[in-house]
Amino acid sequence: MNKLQPKAKKKIESICDRYINENTPLMMILSDIQKEYGYIPLEVQEVVSEKTGLPVAEIYGVVTFYSFFSLTPKGKYIIGVCLGTACYVKGSQNIIDKFSDLLKIAPGQTTEDGLFTIDALRCIGACGIAPAVSINGKVYPKVTIEQVSKIVADYKNKEAL
Ligand code: FES
Repeated sequence: MNKLQPKAKKKIESICDRYINENTPLMMILSDIQKEYGYIPLEVQEVVSEKTGLPVAEIYGVVTFYSFFSLTPKGKYIIGVCLGTACYVKGSQNIIDKFSDLLKIAPGQTTEDGLFTIDALRCIGACGIAPAVSINGKVYPKVTIEQVSKIVADYKNKEAL
């Protein structure tokens, strides 16, 4: 709690208050916090725990179980590479390795400039166009290793404009 500014604590408390009358408010609270701040660190989970009466361990369990919640800040562009079975047999491991090589980060990490995060995903429901990559919700079909450099370059160029 010590690192959280009073203003931020108030904001988290007000998000908790939005769902005070819900039976199971936790997912809604965490989802709003994730949208607002981009991640849900431990000190924020402690405030949620105080407000809801739920143990921090339970909140931590939820945050770490669902891939759309994050304990650490994510990049501006979240590169999700599907490692589900259909994508995996079509070589998605090579695709994620190529993103890692180019950006010099492992899956789950964010580049130092805060631009890119690489996430390994389970099936995203696009098996017919495997291997699939999703970047901030935009799905890239049948991605080849050769395309990976171009995809990264396109996003970098967008930033340079
Ligand atoms: S396994 Fe990748 S989209 Fe289904």
